[in-house]
Amino acid sequence: MKTARRLCQLTDVPDGHSKGFNIEGQAIFVVHQRGRVFAYRNVCPHLNVPMEWQPDEFLDSDKRMIQCAVHGALFLIESGYCVSGPCTGQSLTTVLCEVRGGDIWITCDSD
Ligand code: FES
Repeated sequence: MKTARRLCQLTDVPDGHSKGFNIEGQAIFVVHQRGRVFAYRNVCPHLNVPMEWQPDEFLDSDKRMIQCAVHGALFLIESGYCVSGPCTGQSLTTVLCEVRGGDIWITCDSD
């Protein structure tokens, strides 16, 4: 069964920033890019490990791509597709996400 969950306010993730969450044992992160929000599981497809280099820091230095801190793989923010690094051609796992009433909501599996 799918359940919608409110994560936080959009203003909690400023444009050009990212934020990590733990939802019932599942690590995810969101990226805010020019009013659009994207969410992914926090698991690098290279070695199935968490990706941030510091808490809530999932982006490269110029905030244009998602970057895995372990070996530097780069992923497109809008699709999670890896364009550089040891997992080129693979993708992050997308989490359904939308902005509603100024809040960020995800849709996740629940029992
Ligand atoms: S674990 Fe992410 S690039 Fe190697």
